[in-house]
Amino acid sequence: MSKKIIEKAKEKFEAILTEQLGRVEALKKSCEKTDFTLLDQIKIGVCWGDGIGKIISKHAQSVLEYVLKDEVASGKIKFKDIAGLTIENRAKQKKAIPDDVLEEIKSCHVILKGPTTTPQTGDEWPNIESANVAMRRSLDLYANVRPVKIPQEGIDWCFFRENTEGEYVLGSKGFDVSDDLSIDFKVITEQGSERIIRMALEYAKNNDIDRVTVITKSNVVKTTDGRFSKVAKRLAKEYPGIKVDEWYIDIMTAKLIDPARRQEFKVMVMPNLYGDILTDEAAQMQGGVGTAGSANIGDKWSMFEAIHGSAPRMVKEGRDIYADPCSMIRASAMLLRHIGRQKIAEKIEMALEMCGQFEKKMVITGRDTGVTGEEYCKYLFSWIDNPELKVCWESEVNKLN
Ligand code: IPM
Ligand code: MG
Repeated sequence: MSKKIIEKAKEKFEAILTEQLGRVEALKKSCEKTDFTLLDQIKIGVCWGDGIGKIISKHAQSVLEYVLKDEVASGKIKFKDIAGLTIENRAKQKKAIPDDVLEEIKSCHVILKGPTTTPQTGDEWPNIESANVAMRRSLDLYANVRPVKIPQEGIDWCFFRENTEGEYVLGSKGFDVSDDLSIDFKVITEQGSERIIRMALEYAKNNDIDRVTVITKSNVVKTTDGRFSKVAKRLAKEYPGIKVDEWYIDIMTAKLIDPARRQEFKVMVMPNLYGDILTDEAAQMQGGVGTAGSANIGDKWSMFEAIHGSAPRMVKEGRDIYADPCSMIRASAMLLRHIGRQKIAEKIEMALEMCGQFEKKMVITGRDTGVTGEEYCKYLFSWIDNPELKVCWESEVNKLN
């Protein structure tokens, strides 16, 4: 009996190994890179998503269209609405991303994506894979970059979460070996670790930051996290001006909320699942997951999104109009930076800080105790248009120092 079970499991494991060894070979080949300065036209695809996504991504799109209106008029920038990335369409086609939708996505250079519903075992939807995870894998968006800033507390963190490996790459391919035994997999490769750790080190170097913290649990998860840690140590030798230290994920979650130590951390790099968890914690400290944006960067394509989900509960309770659009607007500013529009991005970021951290004339609470997303966007627009924006922002920041 158990021989039969083992034989069956071996077959499955063999298929997984074949696929993963193939992925490693693909990783070894250099791939096409997008150089935005060489493009005649930059195509921005917008997927609105599900739940509150339908509302907050439209708010973010309106901000982008507003600040890019001249370049849209001249044809330098083009928006493309991609309507098919909804849970209804994905469930109907039983695909995480239907083929025609993926083609549309691939025809763009960058994507702004609203949160999408991820089916869970036992809910009303077929158990298809998360659209985020599928998109990150299909477009090889290997770096998930999540900044969190709390100027009042001297916190300026940038998380580099590995985005295509770890527990996620085979997240839908674990299996029940027998009636009682379930197995999932964690995968870490030399190439996958190297590219994310190098990106974090380069970011630190280019921004005069002298410390990069590597987060693992390599004392227990010895093989996969052990490899991540070894790669970090190897690369650190190429960056003598940067102190690379390793912290375990458990104590890291504690240190993030330690007021005496937390501002010492600057750039943090980690495998996929640790990054998922740690960045929600960090975003909560900044004012909630609704305030944080996330960049999913690959060599050819990139995708920008909120760090949170589609909040079906808010929709059910009729609170979707009160959802905070700042996460998606922050993601839009990251998109602008990525395509080389730093000045416009900076303007949006300063306006977000004036509204959310300094002036706070209007607040979003996610309920009718605060303003709606639309009202908040109007407030934001008034700061984007304000010729005194930079002066006011600088004076607020100076007050903190
Ligand atoms: C995120 C989200 C996703 C993840 C979910 C929706 C699959 O939590 O982007 O952090 O786990 O990566
Ligand atoms: Mg998450």
